[in-house]
Amino acid sequence: MPNNEINEAKNKPSPKPKTKSATGAPQRPKTNKKNSYLCPRMTKIRDIDLGDFPLLLAPMEDVSDPPFRVLCKEQGADMMYTEFISVEGLIRDAVKSKIKLDFAEAERPIGIQIFGAELTSMIRATEIIEEIKPDVLDINFGCPVKKVTSKMMGAGILRDIPLMIRLAEAIVKTSSLPVTVKTRLGWDESNKPIVEVAEMLQDVGIAAISIHGRTRKQMYKGEADWSLIAKVKENPRMHIPVFGNGDINTPQKAVEYKNKYGVDGIMIGRASIGNPWIFRDIKHFQKTGEILPPPTIHERVDAAKRLLQMATQWKGERLGILETRRHYTNYFKGYAGIKEFRHRLVTEDNLQALYQILEEIRQAYSI
Ligand SMILES: Cc1cc2nc3c(=O)[nH]c(=O)nc-3n(C[C@H](O)[C@H](O)[C@H](O)COP(=O)(O)O)c2cc1C
Repeated sequence: MPNNEINEAKNKPSPKPKTKSATGAPQRPKTNKKNSYLCPRMTKIRDIDLGDFPLLLAPMEDVSDPPFRVLCKEQGADMMYTEFISVEGLIRDAVKSKIKLDFAEAERPIGIQIFGAELTSMIRATEIIEEIKPDVLDINFGCPVKKVTSKMMGAGILRDIPLMIRLAEAIVKTSSLPVTVKTRLGWDESNKPIVEVAEMLQDVGIAAISIHGRTRKQMYKGEADWSLIAKVKENPRMHIPVFGNGDINTPQKAVEYKNKYGVDGIMIGRASIGNPWIFRDIKHFQKTGEILPPPTIHERVDAAKRLLQMATQWKGERLGILETRRHYTNYFKGYAGIKEFRHRLVTEDNLQALYQILEEIRQAYSI
């Protein structure tokens, strides 16, 4: 069961039902170039208005679950995605897959991300997700992990582009939701067809594309190359939103990349882990040119406590405690002497004792 905060949020009214435009193409307001500074360019995924230069929380397995997403939303994430969900798990009713479908009304707009390779399973999973009514259905064509790619799933499909396009087209035809894709530049250095691939995906009805500026072979190594992402955006035939992803970890870099590469928005992954404030920081910098001070120890303790509280209410006390363990390190990085507290946090089984340790951290590091 989702936690109380998530339940509370669920009682809020839903946004208006979405309608498909005649062509399925996103509706973009016409910008008067002369006065474009007065008229920020709105980014839309079909009729979902994400505002001017949206910041997206990347889908991240074991990270972007409902408690974490609540924190990111509060700090300004404009659109968020679930962890990736196996279509095979979903159609077989696997608890591990089904629980990842949970989201609250307050999280909207939310995308549910799936991965798979088998057409009929993808279609069945699409039908299941249709009933859950997220705002967007996202297809993962980017996961680099061997056990995924070896079955032609995730980034594995970058070795068979016709199959990728067939799957995308079938899902678009099955779903009334906007279908988006998250992928990489290509399979390896000698195979980076993203410019053509993005256009083909658009042509079969994909409503937006997020591109991680690495190949599958790079995994997470080296620096993300945004120049090819810019080329996708520069293609005059492209009209769907193009979101850039990879290595954005400061407000300055976000704004620099926005201006340099011309993307419609950016997707942030690792820099949000233990730091949901990254969304707030980027927005503030964009608006004012000022860098906000880092979150205080109070903000950090409060965030860790809320994660623990939401996770235990959502997954039950035992699982919630276990699953929050991997987050503590990220919230208190860099604090001298935190190691001992961290050890206690990841070995303690009692919920009240955990809250007590977090309060001790607050006391120890408050000035
Ligand atoms: C722990 C972790 C889990 C991830 N899980 C997913 C996932 O489920 N689906 C997906 O499309 N990408 C996943 N990714 C990739 C991220 O969404 C993102 O593309 C990548 O981290 C690059 O962006 P960043 O430099 O902002 O982190 C994951 C990345 C990390 C670090």
